[in-house]
Amino acid sequence: MTTTTEREAAQEYLRKLFRFFARTQTQGRSQLHTLLSETVATDDALLQLLMDTPASQRRPSLLFAAVNHLLRDRTEHRLAAYYPIHGGDRPVDDQAPAALQAFCAEHADELRELLLTRSTQTNEIRRCFALRLGLSRIAAHWSGPLALLEIGASAGLNLHFDDYGYRLGNRLVQPKDGAPVTLSSVVRGGGPVHELLGELPAVTYRIGADLEPVELSADPEAGPWLEAFIWPEQVRELATLRAAINLSRREPHRLVRADAVQDTARLIAEVPEELPVVVFTASLLSYLDAQARARFIAQLSTAARSRRVAWLFTEAPGLVARTDVTVPGLAGSLRDVGDVYSVGISLRDGAGHQDELLALADPYVEWIAPARTEADDFSWAVAEGLYQPAAATGGGDK
Ligand SMILES: C[S@@+](CC[C@H](N)C(=O)[O-])C[C@H]1O[C@@H](n2cnc3c(N)ncnc32)[C@H](O)[C@@H]1O
Repeated sequence: MTTTTEREAAQEYLRKLFRFFARTQTQGRSQLHTLLSETVATDDALLQLLMDTPASQRRPSLLFAAVNHLLRDRTEHRLAAYYPIHGGDRPVDDQAPAALQAFCAEHADELRELLLTRSTQTNEIRRCFALRLGLSRIAAHWSGPLALLEIGASAGLNLHFDDYGYRLGNRLVQPKDGAPVTLSSVVRGGGPVHELLGELPAVTYRIGADLEPVELSADPEAGPWLEAFIWPEQVRELATLRAAINLSRREPHRLVRADAVQDTARLIAEVPEELPVVVFTASLLSYLDAQARARFIAQLSTAARSRRVAWLFTEAPGLVARTDVTVPGLAGSLRDVGDVYSVGISLRDGAGHQDELLALADPYVEWIAPARTEADDFSWAVAEGLYQPAAATGGGDK
């Protein structure tokens, strides 16, 4: 049984989590969520909605997604006026907190139901920029077709990476016919862009795995729930995600229920043996505790005893640095930042592993800074303003 002191401590933690969320996730991305995070942090009734769920559900993004999800069919509510994705055009002002409080009070039961039954699952397809970069680099080491296994694939939207179009400034890779999805990002840091948009290797086997796969075809609510994690201001992102969801419904790739910690080696063993296997993870490590991360890496090493396996990651650098990956860039101040991701590869075979850091990126790849040289340690990145050393730790998703 939980004591009053434990509950108070848990509530204080949640209060801090909303402020941390505002500082590391919403600032610069969503003015509304930045303001409303502070509203929740100072309102015990709003915090209570999450306090009534198990500790694993108490995430700021879950509350905001639940609100957003309900608002979709209640656009007449005054809170919706602040959501451009729901057709609103009211600038954020000091009435927004009261609108949130009113909405949550009026829909407390529906919110509680969502908070108890739905999980925080996002699928950020802009991370396909990192996937492209990694695949190009792996192809430079290993010629021939590759197999792709995304672990923590959510709805598997990243598996369509070679259907999407890509835009970086005035450079454009056209989407495949019939795929009305073009992803945009910005290059920072002055590194080369050719591998970001270059030729891709043939990927002749692909599969996504997730502890809780998002079944877009089987569950009609799955698409709208994914969309609920889009920030209120991101009208274009919502349209892009919706188009990717529709594409995936029409042409689904294989998605299986599996645990990174237990099933990775088995999934690799199922791939035709002539194919080197690229295991892609994007924002997975923050879901695993230290022991689970070690067990996931051990699965890669086990599989690599009998075939070539590459781990391609876009993850918080501090978490990668605490695996067996050793690259100069992860030995310094990058270990302690929570608002930037590291993109890299770890090529593994029976003889060991060879690791490279390929880029730093915003966690949602709103920008990407490719390595300037092959053994770049990114010591220039602080001076270029890509991150602040000794910022808060962490790393994760919305
Ligand atoms: C933040 S989402 C990232 C989804 C996708 N990779 C992307 O970048 O958009 C993390 C995903 O990892 C999944 N996950 C968490 N723990 C896992 C585990 N032990 N094994 C497999 N998937 C896991 C979650 O269900 C969630 O779908």
